[in-house]
Amino acid sequence: MGLAPPDDAAVYQVTPDTAVVLTVDFFAPLVDDPYDFGAIAAANAMSDVYAMGGEVALALNVAAFPEDMPEEVVARVLEGGADKVAEAGGVLAGGHTIIDREPKYGLCVMGFVHPQKVLTKAGARPGDRLVLTKPVGTGIVTTAARNGEAWPHHLRAAVGWMKVLNRHAMHLARQLQAHAVTDITGFGLMGHAWEIAEQSNVRLRIWASRVPVLPGALEYARKGIFPGGGHRNLSYYGPRVDVSPQVTEEVRLLMFDPQTSGGLLMAVPESLPSLPAGEHLWEIGDVVEGEGVELLP
Ligand code: CO
Ligand code: CO
Repeated sequence: MGLAPPDDAAVYQVTPDTAVVLTVDFFAPLVDDPYDFGAIAAANAMSDVYAMGGEVALALNVAAFPEDMPEEVVARVLEGGADKVAEAGGVLAGGHTIIDREPKYGLCVMGFVHPQKVLTKAGARPGDRLVLTKPVGTGIVTTAARNGEAWPHHLRAAVGWMKVLNRHAMHLARQLQAHAVTDITGFGLMGHAWEIAEQSNVRLRIWASRVPVLPGALEYARKGIFPGGGHRNLSYYGPRVDVSPQVTEEVRLLMFDPQTSGGLLMAVPESLPSLPAGEHLWEIGDVVEGEGVELLP
């Protein structure tokens, strides 16, 4: 399982009650602070294990650093990653670093899941409720910061959310008996929602006004700040999403904004009485018969 592109990670059954979950992800810095960069890259890499319902066991650093990069900066990146792996309850067992002009960092992550308890994108059913666990807008806010146009407190909020592990969100998905789960990353909320619709043969309806948004993201989108990956998402997923004419342009952009270390999107049974209080859970829509994604105001 998991060897096809739409899955979040590869899953390999070892015994009747144990399967290995394997994934790798790394990228160039999206924030200036080396510790935050390391922590975000690690949380992002481990997210695909959680999206499949696994727990992190083992991780390896995958890194590239310029020859003249100060040693203490390199150490801070690796420290940020190591702290996140420790928080996940995993073991960081070395890794591989090469010399490159542009720094890059991430992890190869191995986790475990019970073969009968793998969470996939394929199980959403008409009637299910859609729940999201983090606000969107990290692509827009970090792009604004790179342009020198973001307020520091807006960037701090985005960084704080990107560093949050999806581990507890996965525990909540189990508790809520989720039928389908994925993590929101590069394809944006609309792209990943479409993957669930496609894999489950259903239609997802999402109300934009119910989607949690990072502070500042709408303001920057209104100024036309939108990352390159967002334009690619618009051209690929745009035709697959029916956007209500009442949705404003900046809100529409935000729904396609590529996320780094975004939250989990899950389809949970409608019969659940109410979502547990005090958790980061936003009910943003539902599942109906049909295909594709509908974005409502
Ligand atoms: Co994923
Ligand atoms: Co938990």
